[in-house]
Amino acid sequence: MAGPGFWGLPAGPILLLLLPQALPEGPLVFVAVVFRHGDRAPLASYPTDPHKEAITVLWPRGLGQLTGEGVRQQLELGRFLRNRYEAFLSPEYRREEVYVRSTDFDRTLESAQANLAGLFPEAAPGRPEAAWRPIPVHTVPVTEDKLLRFPTRSCPRYHELLREATEAAEYQTALEGWTDFLTHLENYTGLSLVGEPLRRAWKVLDTLMCQQAHGLPLPSWASPNVLRTLAQISALDIGAHVGPPRAAEKAQLTGGILLEAILANFSRVQRLGLPLKMVMYSAHDSTLLALQGALGLYDGHTPPYAACLGFEFRRHLGDPDEDAGNVTISLFYRNDSSGLPLPLNLPGCPGSCPLGRFRQLTAPARPPAHGVPCHGSREPATPAATVVPLLAGAVAVLAGLSMGLGLLAWRPGCLRAWGGPV
Ligand SMILES: *[C@@H]1O[C@H](CO)[C@@H](O)[C@H](O)[C@H]1NC(C)=O
Ligand SMILES: *[C@@H]1O[C@H](CO)[C@@H](O)[C@H](O)[C@H]1NC(C)=O
Ligand SMILES: *[C@@H]1O[C@H](CO)[C@@H](O)[C@H](O)[C@H]1NC(C)=O
Ligand SMILES: *[C@@H]1O[C@H](CO)[C@@H](O)[C@H](O)[C@H]1NC(C)=O
Repeated sequence: MAGPGFWGLPAGPILLLLLPQALPEGPLVFVAVVFRHGDRAPLASYPTDPHKEAITVLWPRGLGQLTGEGVRQQLELGRFLRNRYEAFLSPEYRREEVYVRSTDFDRTLESAQANLAGLFPEAAPGRPEAAWRPIPVHTVPVTEDKLLRFPTRSCPRYHELLREATEAAEYQTALEGWTDFLTHLENYTGLSLVGEPLRRAWKVLDTLMCQQAHGLPLPSWASPNVLRTLAQISALDIGAHVGPPRAAEKAQLTGGILLEAILANFSRVQRLGLPLKMVMYSAHDSTLLALQGALGLYDGHTPPYAACLGFEFRRHLGDPDEDAGNVTISLFYRNDSSGLPLPLNLPGCPGSCPLGRFRQLTAPARPPAHGVPCHGSREPATPAATVVPLLAGAVAVLAGLSMGLGLLAWRPGCLRAWGGPV
């Protein structure tokens, strides 16, 4: 018997015998991709920032805006998608085949457009003017975006869950260990940091990493050790937002909403026989982290710019069984443009997962049909009894592995700040 599982549910034995064999991949029927915007300017400066003046020179479009490098990264991602789905998508954009939605931020809207310029030849840069066509990108106002930007600020229940995480002994111990560090950092940055939300510390890291990525020398206090500690602080906070305790309940209020929307998209396509083949969501690292949390796949790594999580729905080859249905889902994660995307395994269902099983396993992390109340305390949802031991056992192993902050890979580039998509 393991300890509490990743979802905050009691862990049972891992019923490996129930796991199906990896299935051969059938033909694609539907794809959903969720990606982070490309390289951007830092979100903020800090009072003692020696490079304040340089901001307008290096990032003439302003704080938080997509850079030329960010545009290039998205073009590249679009070309990758074209290559991967060459045989699946029509050669040119068709509105009934592809639907693109972005958060209402300049950097994600621009990222979606740049991506589409890589995906569709008629939108490509350098296209002769007479043949050039832009591709539509849909959005909703930030305050109404329940799908890609989670209403955690205005959700008391989420705050309750977060409080439970931050009041836990391990969190408090880690935080106490960093009090001296944060006190020094206050002195260096002119920010008030001790006892404040940890995202303030992330913003310092974000600023430093963006400046470093653009060739500016860092102030002498910003040693590699300081940066590493800031990254660990950031991972602690992300873990509290998307990980245990009660990760599944948090997911119901965040990443599980998007997961549910993707599954609903596919159901609708099947039920109505729609010609829709692909939905694309242009969003933030917080979106990807929440989605990873909902899938039980957050492992301490922050998604880099233009990181892309893909859901590929395929026709199931062989006999459809009652439980599995006639469709499988496989997941990929592309966080490095120099290699092949990583295949991801849903805990408890490695390889391409029968849709029915995928639904069962992710049910605790998706909001129930009547929606999740943001107000008031309530008991955690009890998912179908057969699913719990399987999922919780499998993810307990993952949680044990991933909670070690040592796993955190330190990479240049800007980090995120929770509580505001970046
Ligand atoms: C803060 O900075 C001042 C001036 O640089 C220095 O005298 C003081 O010792 C510093 N305090 C801490 C806590 O580092
Ligand atoms: C897919 O989901 C999004 C978000 O819920 C929605 O706006 C869109 O209409 C859906 N498309 C289909 C075909 O279900
Ligand atoms: C799966 O079965 C459903 C219902 O029988 C059908 O509507 C759908 O087209 C099938 N999907 C595939 C990919 O074969
Ligand atoms: C990509 O993600 C995997 C899994 O989280 C991680 O092990 C790897 O270090 C990441 N690579 C990059 C370049 O971010």
